[in-house]
Amino acid sequence: MSTQLPVMVQKPSEFQRLLDILRDLRPQSLLEIGVFQGGSLARFATAAAPRALILGIDLAPPPTVPHGPLQRLQLIAGNARDAFVRAQVVDILDGHQLDFLFIDGDHRAALQDFAEYGPLVHPGGIIAFHDIVPGPPSDVGTVPQDWQALKRGRPHLELVENWGQGGYGIGVIWQT
Ligand SMILES: C[S@@+](CC[C@H](N)C(=O)[O-])C[C@H]1O[C@@H](n2cnc3c(N)ncnc32)[C@H](O)[C@@H]1O
Repeated sequence: MSTQLPVMVQKPSEFQRLLDILRDLRPQSLLEIGVFQGGSLARFATAAAPRALILGIDLAPPPTVPHGPLQRLQLIAGNARDAFVRAQVVDILDGHQLDFLFIDGDHRAALQDFAEYGPLVHPGGIIAFHDIVPGPPSDVGTVPQDWQALKRGRPHLELVENWGQGGYGIGVIWQT
């Protein structure tokens, strides 16, 4: 794997805590909605199993993302809201479920992403959301209020450097 990883749009301290959780989980399959330049997805790949399936969806994904030599990378170009895009994910999974889902795409559609892609994560797997800290609406969309609703009654963890930082912050839910 290349040592030169693409830029990511994350707070390093928060993201490192998520990677620590993932290294324990050692996902065999993961999906990121909102790949951007691939910085977060490439780092997820470093925590995944050697033969993991690494899936990403973006309106305009990069041509590739650094990953392990035996890992299988599938980048889907399209709108996660599109039923055809979700169907591609289901086809690629071929009856298997995800160990990890990262939701960082349309920040006004985190609830829909959770409703549509969350069921693809098996019990004991993890679903994480970026931008749970209130901040400029153009950056965080409705994620902060969506997160307050999502975390209620679910096993969860908040990876937040500072609740006054304006945006960022990662919310983690364990699928039951
Ligand atoms: C904040 S960036 C993701 C940053 C990336 N996860 C990282 O940490 O480096 C959000 C990305 O979501 C993508 N996006 C926005 N709406 C989307 C949608 N409806 N379906 C798929 N991707 C979407 C954008 O193209 C953009 O690349």
